[in-house]
Amino acid sequence: MKLGFIGLGRMGQLMVKNLVRHRHRVIAYNRSPGPRRIAKKYGATTVASIDELVGKLERPRVVWLMITAGPAVDSVLSQLAPLLDRGDTVIDGGNSFYKDSVRRGKELGSKGVHFLDCGTSGGLEGAERGACCMVGGNPEVFRNVERIFKDLSVREGYALMGPLGSGHYVKMIHNAVEYGMMESMAEGFEMLKSGAYRGKINMYTVAHNWNHGSVVRSWLMELAERAFKNDPELKNYSPVVFDSGEGKWSVQDALEQELPFYTAAAALFSRYRSRQKERFGHKVAAALRHEFGGHAFVRKK
Ligand SMILES: NC(=O)c1ccc[n+]([C@@H]2O[C@H](COP(=O)([O-])OP(=O)(O)OC[C@H]3O[C@@H](n4cnc5c(N)ncnc54)[C@H](OP(=O)(O)O)[C@@H]3O)[C@@H](O)[C@H]2O)c1
Repeated sequence: MKLGFIGLGRMGQLMVKNLVRHRHRVIAYNRSPGPRRIAKKYGATTVASIDELVGKLERPRVVWLMITAGPAVDSVLSQLAPLLDRGDTVIDGGNSFYKDSVRRGKELGSKGVHFLDCGTSGGLEGAERGACCMVGGNPEVFRNVERIFKDLSVREGYALMGPLGSGHYVKMIHNAVEYGMMESMAEGFEMLKSGAYRGKINMYTVAHNWNHGSVVRSWLMELAERAFKNDPELKNYSPVVFDSGEGKWSVQDALEQELPFYTAAAALFSRYRSRQKERFGHKVAAALRHEFGGHAFVRKK
């Protein structure tokens, strides 16, 4: 198929590479020019504006967005939408908040432009060699562009989840599950490093061993194995963990729906804690123990 691709960041440029490998004709655009050169090297036709991108596509056009979630998506759509016609399709493959996707889908739908929201998983390796695509939207629109999802995904790695917004909803919950799994692994390796056998267990040996036949073998465990192999003490990493929104949105959704989502919430709060330089709450707890029972505390110098 011929399609337009906007957003040639870490994910986008590798997805373009994968699409070209599957013989799609990709017209690629990125706001800053650097990544355009990479997409060109991968075999895409690159353009210097969204106008030019739309001009190079035949109707009905298909345009894939792979950009930072939030206002950037609205900004790009505000430039793109006026150039599109009835019957064209926009696919948002980023990690947009599902309610934003419902709104965007309705706005585009009001002028006859179709919209599919696609949660894309698999990281950079998945982008290049086959991802997992969770799609939301109209089944007929999905079928019309199914080839793209098929070629971007591993075998059986794509599916229509439900109506508008559901692809990004499923991806949001997927990422919340991922937060929980990562937190559990983080705490487990901390136990191995600092618990009863402190200093006597090699983290790489454990991860390698767990990836061979154990119940917790997984891609995340393979990534842990790789990280420990390259940097056994993870000396290159500060213990600060960022997030890109899906964990927070999923916990907010759980609160709105009054549903239990303990592990995702705990993992999210752990990330927030990791970013605090001054833990005032722990000072309060230390002061209270001292006040009520004269318990020892570490005096700040
Ligand atoms: N990295 C992952 O493992 C992963 C996995 C699955 C899904 N995702 C999602 O996929 C999307 C892209 O992720 P990424 O890792 O490729 O991010 P990235 O490397 O940071 O790239 C972000 C892209 O968005 C563009 N962009 C940002 N603000 C823009 C604006 N206001 N107008 C136009 N373009 C704008 C950037 O263009 P410039 O180069 O001009 O800044 C760049 O092409 C995100 O929604 C992310 O959450 C990421």
